[in-house]
Amino acid sequence: MKDPKDYIVFPLDVPTLNEAMNLVRILQDEVGLFKVGLQLFISTGPKVVQYIKDSSSAGVFLDLKLHDIPDTVKKGVEAAARLNVTFVTVHTYGGERILRSAVSGGGEKTKVLGVTVLTSSDKESLRDLRFSGESVSDISRLVLHRASLARKAGCAGVICSGLEVAGIKQRFGKDFIAVVPGIRPTWSVISGDDQRRITTPAQAVQNGADYIVVGRPIRTAPDPKEAAMRIAEEIRTVL
Ligand code: C5P
Repeated sequence: MKDPKDYIVFPLDVPTLNEAMNLVRILQDEVGLFKVGLQLFISTGPKVVQYIKDSSSAGVFLDLKLHDIPDTVKKGVEAAARLNVTFVTVHTYGGERILRSAVSGGGEKTKVLGVTVLTSSDKESLRDLRFSGESVSDISRLVLHRASLARKAGCAGVICSGLEVAGIKQRFGKDFIAVVPGIRPTWSVISGDDQRRITTPAQAVQNGADYIVVGRPIRTAPDPKEAAMRIAEEIRTVL
């Protein structure tokens, strides 16, 4: 059985290498992967990836959400693969050709995951983007469609909310990886929260998530290590 802590992806959403190093030290035994996103990667570059690899056994999730022409995305993924990260993310919004190109830049060690519909998006934000009909009334259909593009292109899996993960697993099988952000334990209160399609850690894992991304509920907790342990305990109850 997978260890409950290995479901947890912790995003290092901080501006400096020092702050990231501090969080890695505190949480390295409590989470499965550290996620490096735009803010930290733009500030520190590959240094932070190297630090995580040298100082912990946790994997690195490079969440750059690439979205560009096929050749540029491929070269971005190749550069990520040279850093030996476990996962790199690409938007599915650009379509199958871009995704296929992204996958060709990955390799055995670095898997490409497709971002379906951001968990901060809701019906209103999709309407603003001129989406209509079923894509708006039932976001899970749009998520499934984008997941099917990712699957056809050879991506290892997708990012989706905990509300869509069961449908994805049902359609594409258990080996197609589902990473679920928008996680809110019942005890966490995030002021001015931007996430919309949210689930608890237990709901997401019960619905089939292979990994859950939990940021602010851990980072802003009075004791982040204790918060991460509490989330692992919650996961254990549904395994
Ligand atoms: O738990 P919290 O809302 O703080 O987590 C935020 C993290 O989840 C950010 O690093 C963000 O990039 C990531 N994320 C997301 N929605 C997605 C994909 C990633 O919120 N669809």
